Amino acid sequence: MNRTAVLAYSGGLDTSCAIAWLKEDYGFEEVVAVLVDVGQEASFGPAVERGRLAGADDVLLLDRKEAFAEEQVAKALLANALYEGKYPLVSALSRPVIAEAVVHGCTGKGNDQLRFELAFKARYPGVTVIAPLRDRVRTRDEEIAYAEARGIPVEAKPESPYSVDDNLFGRAIEAGMLEDPWTAPPEDAFVLTAAAADAPAPVECVVAFEEGLPVALDCEELPLDELVGVLNEQAGAYGIGRIDMIENRAVGIKSRELYEAPAALTLIAAHRALEELVLTKGELEAKRELEPKWAKLVYDGGWFARLRNAYDAFFSATQQLVTGEVRLSLQPGAPVVTGRRSEHALYSEELASYGIGETFPHQAASGFIGITALETQLVAARDRVEVA
Ligand code: ARG
Repeated sequence: MNRTAVLAYSGGLDTSCAIAWLKEDYGFEEVVAVLVDVGQEASFGPAVERGRLAGADDVLLLDRKEAFAEEQVAKALLANALYEGKYPLVSALSRPVIAEAVVHGCTGKGNDQLRFELAFKARYPGVTVIAPLRDRVRTRDEEIAYAEARGIPVEAKPESPYSVDDNLFGRAIEAGMLEDPWTAPPEDAFVLTAAAADAPAPVECVVAFEEGLPVALDCEELPLDELVGVLNEQAGAYGIGRIDMIENRAVGIKSRELYEAPAALTLIAAHRALEELVLTKGELEAKRELEPKWAKLVYDGGWFARLRNAYDAFFSATQQLVTGEVRLSLQPGAPVVTGRRSEHALYSEELASYGIGETFPHQAASGFIGITALETQLVAARDRVEVA
């Protein structure tokens, strides 16, 4: 039997201890820790060192920022994906990328175990998945004592009072005092956003899209991961993208979650505005119906589901002409769309205008209403007779 465990490693206390547990409690001969850079705020050097000191035979640092932006983030943007109408799936999107390993550090209470394990099983059929933090629940103090006894460095600064997960698309903050849903989010929970009350004067920005994806910000062309980074800073200064919600987890419980995703919410607002200009009424209606389904599927761990590919095929077919520009005013707490233009706009000023020179076929309207109202008239006439 091959006794090598491949661990999805974050550099934090949980997964550092997990390296030692895999050897001591699970009897693995070799542990490879895989640390995936998806744009999280982290000191990778010390994290790699910590993994080695914890006993990993190898610590692989994989830079997947661009791949993550171009695959998961891009698809989420095309889908205008907001779980339960609010959450842009920050953590849910990163899991399929991090799932290059098959031991994970998730507990049994959250959604991430589902996302990791579905990803592992889709990629490596028949693989054995191990979840040390689900197999045995340990307190933080127990972990610290365990780490100290084995020479695994424990961070000198007190660990954050919250459970945080982040990547280039945003940050998720939960637990600690936030578990009381009546407690207002303390300012120290936020890193990417300032309070809306402290926002500077509104500023305009223009996002250019090509086939549904943002390609330039204020005329500067940028790869998606960088564009998201710049916009996170710009919109974050206005408190845009702060979300405080009670969320329905896949495991049946509700949880109180805070998110910060300034670029995500700004780009979704802009993308939707451009779609309104370009897509037909039917395309828009169908797409808006499928968007929340995509978000729920991916939230529930379905990144590798065939259904997700089918949704994406539909979305990408609708995006061929979603090329143009959207102007936004960044205001305290909200990205406000103030203009949109596209060579492919279906909007016609000539038809819509109330001014002179308009070309709307007014005479045709009465015939249109006559036919549209036929059934209404039949129903009204019948009901008058039957009710009387
Ligand atoms: N509830 C969110 C989700 O399921 C965020 C999870 C963040 N994970 C964490 N360990 N804090 O996508």
